[in-house]
Amino acid sequence: MSERDELGSQSAYWNAAAASGTKQFAHPLHLPWLEDVSRSATVLDYGCGYGRIMSDLAQQALNNLAGVDTSPKMIAQARQRHPTMQFTTLDTPPTLPMAAASVDVILLFAVLTCIPEDRAQRSLICELTRVLKPNGLLYVSDLLLQNDQRNQDRYAKSAERYGTYGVFKTDDGAVCRHHPSDWFTTLLAGLDPIATRHITVPTMNGHESEGIQLLTRKPTPNH
Ligand SMILES: C[S@@+](CC[C@H](N)C(=O)[O-])C[C@H]1O[C@@H](n2cnc3c(N)ncnc32)[C@H](O)[C@@H]1O
Repeated sequence: MSERDELGSQSAYWNAAAASGTKQFAHPLHLPWLEDVSRSATVLDYGCGYGRIMSDLAQQALNNLAGVDTSPKMIAQARQRHPTMQFTTLDTPPTLPMAAASVDVILLFAVLTCIPEDRAQRSLICELTRVLKPNGLLYVSDLLLQNDQRNQDRYAKSAERYGTYGVFKTDDGAVCRHHPSDWFTTLLAGLDPIATRHITVPTMNGHESEGIQLLTRKPTPNH
């Protein structure tokens, strides 16, 4: 795998994280945004990790759920924790084994932060838009650029190496990205915005970070 492809999924890092069990994922699911979703809706959790959000969704009686992730060890963990749910390892991300216009709701929680490059993020959103039904929802939760000195120092240190301000390497070796808020407007320009909320969330390494959640809808063809 080329360095560029590897940066797009970093499976070795996520496999080790799954095996160690030390990473907590904590982006909150804002249930009011999903209250009009039919209980039989098809829901895809892209980058599902160990199935945390799928479990929250199942508690809301949503039962047509699928989770995908590039890390085989995350998927193994997810299957072990939730044996009745459907999980798939993605070998060639972002390509999904799903027909066009077949999914009602997609969740993308703390995944863009793991995909440092613009090009890879754009091709992911393009693939998610392909599988969404017209009027389907894409719910994104991710991290913003932080104002504190620790983060600003690491953005500055890594900007030249990675070519994007906000991309940095964590102390334990993941290449992550924090985003200016207008990047999400650019990235999600093909979808209709419905709602935005700001969150404060503990990162997987235990720091408090500012994040953003965006609810968008795929336009209907003649919209
Ligand atoms: C921070 S965790 C979040 C997990 C889950 N969404 C949650 O919030 O509980 C990020 C997950 O994204 C997965 N991932 C990273 N790059 C990916 C890609 N290009 N395609 C699919 N999954 C990816 C990782 O393996 C990891 O499980």
